[in-house]
Amino acid sequence: MATTADPLAISTIDRLDVGNRRVFVRVDFNVPLKDGQVRDDTRIRATLPTLRKLQERGARLILGSHLGRPDGAPDPKYSMEPVGARLAELLGCEVRLPDEVVGDGVTKLVHDTRAGQIVLLENLRWHPGETKNDPAFAQALASLCDAYVNDAFGASHRAHASIVGVPALVADKAAGLLLAAEVEALGRVIHHPEHPFVTVVGGAKVSDKLPVLLAILDRLRPGDSILIGGAMANTFLAAAGVGVGSSLFELDRFADCKNLLTRAGARDVRVLLPTDLRVGVGTKATTARVIQVESGTIADEEMALDIGPATAARFRAAILGAKLVFWNGPMGLFENPVFAEGTLAVAKAVADCGGFTVVGGGDSVAALQDSGVADKISHISTGGGASLEMIESGSLPGIDALLLPTNRSA
Ligand code: 3PG
Repeated sequence: MATTADPLAISTIDRLDVGNRRVFVRVDFNVPLKDGQVRDDTRIRATLPTLRKLQERGARLILGSHLGRPDGAPDPKYSMEPVGARLAELLGCEVRLPDEVVGDGVTKLVHDTRAGQIVLLENLRWHPGETKNDPAFAQALASLCDAYVNDAFGASHRAHASIVGVPALVADKAAGLLLAAEVEALGRVIHHPEHPFVTVVGGAKVSDKLPVLLAILDRLRPGDSILIGGAMANTFLAAAGVGVGSSLFELDRFADCKNLLTRAGARDVRVLLPTDLRVGVGTKATTARVIQVESGTIADEEMALDIGPATAARFRAAILGAKLVFWNGPMGLFENPVFAEGTLAVAKAVADCGGFTVVGGGDSVAALQDSGVADKISHISTGGGASLEMIESGSLPGIDALLLPTNRSA
């Protein structure tokens, strides 16, 4: 359903009656693990304001999340145990973890939970009903609670049982503080963009970003800009006849690239592509050389793996002049330090921009953190895919589910 989420229409937890009630909070604790420990707890920390507020107001909390992509069956590799341990440290209270998602043991534990206490269900994707939005599984989760809160922005583009099935069954439902903040910030990009509006996109594939670029283009005015880096820029360059050696590019997307450039031109929107590139032999290259796109040649064995310094300077100038910036995707092979400079330069430019800045996507956010400038960004989205999908379609299944009437009385 293509609706346009109006942030004002979504009820937040402030208006939800939670005192001594069982409140199911869908969180996105899909965090990276290393050696059985949480490696990056950003997503856990992002839900703390919601959880603390609900605890203070006497809610009996039932938290549910997915972790990784287990195949609909219990898999210890994807247990929520390390996540529960980290959450307990951060909240300074006990987090009770049943060893299953739903079942008699869970029901008993939830019913025994008192005001302010927390139960974290096992990985929702251990159950085959989660990703299929199976009605019986949604009903089993709904029967655990009196009220439903979605604070899982990063997973709200998935029409799964805990995201759309449960809120369809629970009358009292609301957005958590994290979800509400995401809807508001992305709403500024979608509904009320200020101009000049600069969109910066990178990453591997044109095909991943094309729908969002076309959706953004419809909202742009003369003087706005789209800056394209990363491997997706290679496809634009190759479509224009530039030899890109062994670089990644998508042969079947040349027509889309040309179409985007034509549509942008018709609106007087500038599309900036790299004019220089850092190239290397293979993704593990330990050295790079800079070539000029106009005059240089990328050898057959070389790959374009980062934007060059002149491009980074042009991108910086465009970003600094913006009133609104949306950035998603690295400018190159950011995980190899030899090719990280372009992405780091964009991170610094976005941080130095005086306008409203929104950044989403794992590598872009990591670049902000590596540059020590994350606190200078107006809004860092906790959802890469979710933020793109929201900009493209104006809403997300998880947000629409909060706006719909319930299928039964609670
Ligand atoms: C994410 O990490 O982007 C979200 O948690 C969604 O995870 P998924 O792509 O496995 O659905």
